[in-house]
Amino acid sequence: MEINESVASMSFGKRNGCHVSKGVALLLGVLFLAPHGVAAMPGNDSQTLAARARGARSSPLSASTTLFTTTKVNDFRLPTALKPLHYTVRLQPFIRGNFSIMGYVEVEVEVVEETSTFTFHMADITTHNDSVKIVDSEKRNGKGVHILKQTYDNQQEFYHAHLSRPLKKGRRYLLSMAFQGYLNEHLHGFYRSSYKVANGDERWVAVTQFQPTDARKAFPCFDEPAMKATFEIFLARETDMSAISNMPRIDSQPVEGQEGWVWDHFNTSVPMPTYLVAFLVSDFKSMEATTQNGKTFRVWAREDAISQANYSLKIGADILTFFEDFFSIPYPLPKQDMVAIPDFPLGHGELGPNHLPGDCYAIRPNSICGGQ
Ligand SMILES: *[C@@H]1O[C@H](CO)[C@@H](O)[C@H](O)[C@H]1NC(C)=O
Ligand SMILES: *[C@@H]1O[C@H](CO)[C@@H](O)[C@H](O)[C@H]1NC(C)=O
Ligand SMILES: *[C@@H]1O[C@H](CO)[C@@H](O)[C@H](O)[C@H]1NC(C)=O
Ligand SMILES: *[C@@H]1O[C@H](CO)[C@@H](O)[C@H](O)[C@H]1NC(C)=O
Ligand SMILES: *[C@@H]1O[C@H](CO)[C@@H](O)[C@H](O)[C@H]1NC(C)=O
Repeated sequence: MEINESVASMSFGKRNGCHVSKGVALLLGVLFLAPHGVAAMPGNDSQTLAARARGARSSPLSASTTLFTTTKVNDFRLPTALKPLHYTVRLQPFIRGNFSIMGYVEVEVEVVEETSTFTFHMADITTHNDSVKIVDSEKRNGKGVHILKQTYDNQQEFYHAHLSRPLKKGRRYLLSMAFQGYLNEHLHGFYRSSYKVANGDERWVAVTQFQPTDARKAFPCFDEPAMKATFEIFLARETDMSAISNMPRIDSQPVEGQEGWVWDHFNTSVPMPTYLVAFLVSDFKSMEATTQNGKTFRVWAREDAISQANYSLKIGADILTFFEDFFSIPYPLPKQDMVAIPDFPLGHGELGPNHLPGDCYAIRPNSICGGQ
């Protein structure tokens, strides 16, 4: 996976074709098998799939007609009255417990047009309504803006806080909210993936796949690519696990009242869209190299597999340097991590094979590389 950033999202894959090494080609080969082999697809047999494909092909119009008569396309877009600037996100996933996620988000917004509704995306999340506060950025300890009611639109995946008075144009406000999420098994959002150790025991890791619109399942956010902001991520983990995110870790602090847990605090990111935010909490081991241009490059895998990661460590670091030289653009972050995730949604569920060619999970700096 990958966990880094974005900026330059030097989309190696898409625009320039995939320049892949033998190792990467092999990996991609393995990954590409799945959709044809049906493995990662919903539905339980190839007949069902074939029927679905036929249905889609024979009646494309009826499919889109249904979509557009129920909700206009524009209704899916967020209102543009608020512009997100900065997020602080705290997540504590109970990987070895009930798979729930204790979450807290703070988002600072700039008011582009006066509005008395604070709307952003959220899905598969339960808000703790009493915790929601909206305050003027310059009066953080003030009483805040009174919230009349909170509502949720299931179809648009919009959360709305209806306010007693409009937010003023040009001002900045801070919304904070505690919530509960869930580490799902559907390979979207903040999800759980498992593997088996030599003695047959199952181990879980918690990892993200946000592209295109699943960041909203991990934390409430303005989940549209143009709405870029900076992100400051905190992840709670048990002390025998590790956590990584786009940016390097700054420090770790004990979780108050919970022995054996620490909060890892990651440096503030560059401005980026929500779908590039990535993190992983796991018991994986890593190997580290420094690229020719001085960037830290790490490869992560389960303990039983890390001894096989030498090649990907070498070639990954070389590829990063190659593209920096090729485009004459220095990689904008201090480090890059690449992770071998046991379950990764290469085919994005029903989008299936159509979605594949651009997505070179093994080498793009902002995505995740599956399979081991
Ligand atoms: C597979 O799908 C068929 C119908 O599509 C259903 O009747 C059957 O129970 C399913 N089998 C399993 C194992 O889910
Ligand atoms: C899940 O487990 C954690 C830690 O044991 C606990 O604090 C939390 O309340 C549980 N959540 C649910 C929904 O049961
Ligand atoms: C709490 O907020 C949610 C939206 O996040 C809303 O659907 C629900 O009705 C609210 N509950 C109460 C008691 O206000
Ligand atoms: C965090 O990032 C800032 C800006 O990129 C940098 O100046 C600072 O040294 C970083 N802090 C740490 C502890 O790495
Ligand atoms: C890979 O690296 C590990 C640790 O540095 C070493 O023990 C192992 O022999 C290496 N494997 C190969 C195939 O080079």
